[in-house]
Formats: sequence, C-alpha cells, structure tokens
Amino acid sequence: MLPAIEIAPSILAADFARLGEEIAAVERGGARILHVDVMDGHFVPNISIGVPVVSSLRKATTLVLDVHLMIEDAARYVGAFADAGADMISVHQETTPHLDRVLASIREREIEAGVVLNPATPVATLSEVLPVVDFVLVMSVNPGFGGQKFIPGSLDKLRQLKELRSRYNWTYRIEVDGGMDLQNVSDAVRAGAEIIVAGTSVFRTPDAAEAVRRLRQVASEALAQKV
Ligand code: DX5
Ligand code: ZN
Repeated sequence: MLPAIEIAPSILAADFARLGEEIAAVERGGARILHVDVMDGHFVPNISIGVPVVSSLRKATTLVLDVHLMIEDAARYVGAFADAGADMISVHQETTPHLDRVLASIREREIEAGVVLNPATPVATLSEVLPVVDFVLVMSVNPGFGGQKFIPGSLDKLRQLKELRSRYNWTYRIEVDGGMDLQNVSDAVRAGAEIIVAGTSVFRTPDAAEAVRRLRQVASEALAQKV
C-alpha cells in the first residue's frame, strides 16, 4: 500500500487571536497533523511560540502536534515539550551535537523523533542517525520565517532520503517544510515527501479548509502517478 500523504498546516501563518477557529478549519479540511514552529531568536532570527502554547493546543485539539524546534540547546527543552503534549518533536542537525542522545530521549518518551536539515546541510551528515529516526524534515527555505520561496535544490535531498530508505530498509517518513504550495507540491511528493508542511498557502487564503483539501488532492494525485 502506498503511504498516505499528510498535509501539516503550520500555525505560524495563522491568526493567533483566532487560533481555535483556524485549527477547526484545517481539521475540517482533513488535516491530521498540526505543525508548530518554535523559534528562539538565536538559532533563527525570529521568536515565535513556546511550551505554554503547545499545552493549550493539546487541550484544544486531537490533531497530532508536530513540534519543530528551531532553538539552540534543544536537548534542554525536549522534556518540557513532551510534557506539554507534543506527538512529534524534531531537532535540527545544526543545533544538536549529541543528536543520537537527544533522538533517543525523545523516543523513550514514546514521541516520534525527527531530525531537520537546513538547506545548506547535506543528507550525508545524517548517515549515523537515519536508522533511528521516525522522520526526517527537509527545510525547503532557510528557517525563521513563513512566506518564503521554495528552494528547488531541496527536491534532490528528498530523492536521496527516499533512495537511502529503500536501499537500507529504513522506516523514517519524509517531511518537507517551507514555501510549499499547489505549484510545487507534486514535484515534492514525486521526489519523496510524505508530510507536507504548509503555512502561507493554507492560512493566508480565504478558506483554510479548502486549501488543505486541494493540497492533499494534488499531492495524492502526484503520488498515484509516480509508480
Ligand atoms: C520556517 C518554518 C515553516 C514555516 C512554513 O522556519 O519552519 O514551518 O512556517 O511557512 P510557509 O509555508 O509560509 O513557507
Ligand atoms: Zn517548520
């Protein structure tokens, strides 16, 4: 069976004053994952949200909470985000000298552990952890801001991850994040992406539910055609 495509709306682009309604809309559109961008103003030049917001989201929705940590010293905060109710936690390769240990500490809590690559970081830097991650997140923009343009070189990274997974029988899922929209989602899916993060192209539209439905439809069609 082909793996299902998941659209993971990124709340960074949502209206935070109406977050509950925004989440209800993407849920109606068929989203099962909510992408939560945590930024510290150090690793990336922007500050977003933290543990209290994840706790509130946990009470407000049953969607899978996918917490993307764009922070220095991520190891120090994994426990707090886990306790707040994250279902998936990803840490950047670039921030984490003890990647193996941090990923293990996430998995010990029965939370899916992911590793993230910035656009300038090669897949080869993950060779030792690919067997022990639940998902790999390929940044298709430089992290820090929503609304940026998709970097086409990311497609090659998606292909490499798909190829390595099948060559070594690994099991991670492949996620892509940044500048995803109806124009590039098919290419990303054909290259290997299975979880599509989308902020601007979902929440900065008149109808977020419909935006999720269309992205999922176009992505699923691309998946069906690729074999
Ligand atoms: C960027 C974040 C992304 C961002 C995506 O640093 O990791 O998740 O919210 O937003 P769009 O879809 O607008 O590029
Ligand atoms: Zn993100």
